[in-house]
Amino acid sequence: MSFPTQRMRRMRRTEGLRNLVRENRFSASDFIFPMFAVPGSGIKEEIKAIPGNYHFSVDRLVDEAKAVYDLGIPAVLLFGVPEKKDDAASGAYDPEGISQQAIRAVKRALPDLIVISDVCLCEYTPHGHCGILKNGYVENDSTLRLIEKVTISHAEAGVDIVAPAAMMDGQIGVMRRVLDETGYSETAILAYSAKFASKLYDPFFKHGTNSAVSFGDKKSHQMDYANANEAMREIALDIEEGADIVMIKPAMFYLDLVARAKDQFNLPLAVYNVSGEYAMIKSAAELNRINEKEIAKEVLTSFKRAGADLIISYFAKDVATILGA
Ligand code: PBG
Ligand code: ZN
Repeated sequence: MSFPTQRMRRMRRTEGLRNLVRENRFSASDFIFPMFAVPGSGIKEEIKAIPGNYHFSVDRLVDEAKAVYDLGIPAVLLFGVPEKKDDAASGAYDPEGISQQAIRAVKRALPDLIVISDVCLCEYTPHGHCGILKNGYVENDSTLRLIEKVTISHAEAGVDIVAPAAMMDGQIGVMRRVLDETGYSETAILAYSAKFASKLYDPFFKHGTNSAVSFGDKKSHQMDYANANEAMREIALDIEEGADIVMIKPAMFYLDLVARAKDQFNLPLAVYNVSGEYAMIKSAAELNRINEKEIAKEVLTSFKRAGADLIISYFAKDVATILGA
């Protein structure tokens, strides 16, 4: 059957018809909203490079989390921005650390909001690297021992899901084991499985967490963005080691991998629509070169079309507006 019997435009004629046959859409329930906690009280300061997102002291973070929850967003991803940093990253596993305080406060106020915590050391070291350095190289196995401590401290604070971000070999297995051994077998793991060494994180660590590396880069642990098969191996390993949800990060330039992963694996698949992706859209929109709402809708739909189940995004709070609701 072909033209003129077949007319593709028939089902595109009205918004009603287009709606009827639309294959992919997103809603608030697909989203995870990243949030940044800082010490102090009464603080709400916009993160310039990630407009519409803020540094919150724990008291104000709870208010914002409530607003997020009321919008129908099921989960937040918490980042702690500590006052002091040291080579042992001690703030990362301090029971009174900024992440631990934020986790406890949000869970206490909003028990049904899912709290996910970023597990990494780079926010807590003066050099901004994701682990323990030996001769300038991030040492895998000693870093794993600290990741265990961070994991337990977040679990004790009541987190629902831990999200290891360091790209250390074996980190998922180590975390699953330590959680099980300490009575937290129900604490889930969202693995940053295929996390690439991308320049799209600059707004995040320069302005979001003040953790830009003081020398070098993260290419010895984060993935080479030229590699696709390797990303599938990383995901497969994380699944073997006990991940409950796997993630591809960044999102926008990596949708080929999202489609492949969706095809190859049966776990919930998340994408991280990172700070640089968000900043590019915001900046172009500020200059009136693109329409922010329409572009955001197009981008977020593309994640779903590629196969993402969950979207971590700084746009999450604006979903209703983006959808024109
Ligand atoms: C590491 C972490 C980073 C991001 C999330 N978790 C930075 C990095 O690995 O260098 C980046 C997120 C973004 O750019 O939005 N703790
Ligand atoms: Zn890190």
